[in-house]
Amino acid sequence: MQKIPYTTINGGSVPMMILSVFSMITFTSVYGFDSVWTEWWWTYDGFSGPAWWGTKWPICTMGRYQSPIDILPDKLLFDPNLTGVVFSSEKKINGNLTNTGNDITLFVDDVIVPLINATSGPLQYVYHLHHIKLHFGHDEASGSEHTVNGQAFPAEIQLYMFNADLYANYTQAMSSPNGLVAVSIFLEVGKIGNEAYTMISNALTHIPTKGQQHRVHGLPLSVLLPQTKEYITYEGSLTQPQCQETVTWVIFNKPIYITEQQLTQLRNVNKEGGSHLLIFGNIRPSQPMYNRLVRTNINFRPKTKVCSMVKEVFYEVNTVQTRSGR
Ligand SMILES: *[C@@H]1O[C@H](CO)[C@@H](O)[C@H](O)[C@H]1NC(C)=O
Ligand SMILES: *[C@@H]1O[C@H](CO)[C@@H](O)[C@H](O)[C@H]1NC(C)=O
Ligand SMILES: *[C@@H]1O[C@H](CO)[C@@H](O)[C@H](O)[C@H]1NC(C)=O
Ligand SMILES: *[C@@H]1O[C@H](CO)[C@@H](O)[C@H](O)[C@H]1NC(C)=O
Repeated sequence: MQKIPYTTINGGSVPMMILSVFSMITFTSVYGFDSVWTEWWWTYDGFSGPAWWGTKWPICTMGRYQSPIDILPDKLLFDPNLTGVVFSSEKKINGNLTNTGNDITLFVDDVIVPLINATSGPLQYVYHLHHIKLHFGHDEASGSEHTVNGQAFPAEIQLYMFNADLYANYTQAMSSPNGLVAVSIFLEVGKIGNEAYTMISNALTHIPTKGQQHRVHGLPLSVLLPQTKEYITYEGSLTQPQCQETVTWVIFNKPIYITEQQLTQLRNVNKEGGSHLLIFGNIRPSQPMYNRLVRTNINFRPKTKVCSMVKEVFYEVNTVQTRSGR
């Protein structure tokens, strides 16, 4: 999770670079040369890892609204005007679960019905779900991209949606103001796996290596989402290149559960079939805050223990100040 300073890495990771170059050659045969350079050269390790993304996309290192962040409970700003995020919850979605080599992504078929019905809170437009990403690590200490007081959850699911009122498609929205909303759900280990996650988990067995995809039918969003109206929200970016700062993040204050077995399966993805990319996990380190505000509607008094977010964490919320600027 540490950032590697440019100076110390100089000349030190040649084998990593060879590995990356080898991976690119492999990709070339699958995706063609252009897509190799525009989308596939970055990774989560070595010379193409997060510390180096900025050499191709300066905003990844220069940007001041980058994601993910470490959430500090005692710095949250309680905003009573943040209302619940209402999803068109009966919607079942279909899509292609894809092993992209860098992560597992469910590319969702066009959802005609608006996913989020919100004209208040942080979300002022109608948003359409575009894809769902899984982020995870390979050991107990890592997993989620967002962390709470420096602690990671075993994994994180991110639902990316685009502003369908202002933009024609995801591609256009991702580089435009107020373009995207990313809803984030932490995964925690429990005795019984979330039923919707289990559908994803079952499909995972069909895509052990990069480039493979498998159809997922009838995934119930209402089951995937935790039963809570409590969330935190802040202005940030995509957590992968090109790191565009067009994302309003909504992070639920309650995890969903997966079994130990499902977590093990996730951590083993892409270790088979001769692919090495996901061995390094797919976690971008926490990014600097630069005085950004993180607002919440968690309705609690100081010193109330909120078990759902992380064990033994006590929230202390600052008194309401001003509404954060957008
Ligand atoms: C969405 O909002 C409209 C208008 O307020 C309302 O009629 C409709 O029932 C809402 N749908 C959902 C799924 O909440
Ligand atoms: C899913 O895969 C099929 C077959 O490759 C393709 O036709 C379709 O466009 C894909 N859908 C999405 C949402 O990527
Ligand atoms: C997205 O919308 C823009 C603007 O309408 C259009 O130029 C572009 O071709 C679209 N891209 C895709 C991938 O559909
Ligand atoms: C909440 O909304 C009311 C009415 O618009 C406004 O007066 C108040 O300042 C807002 N509070 C915060 C914390 O933004």
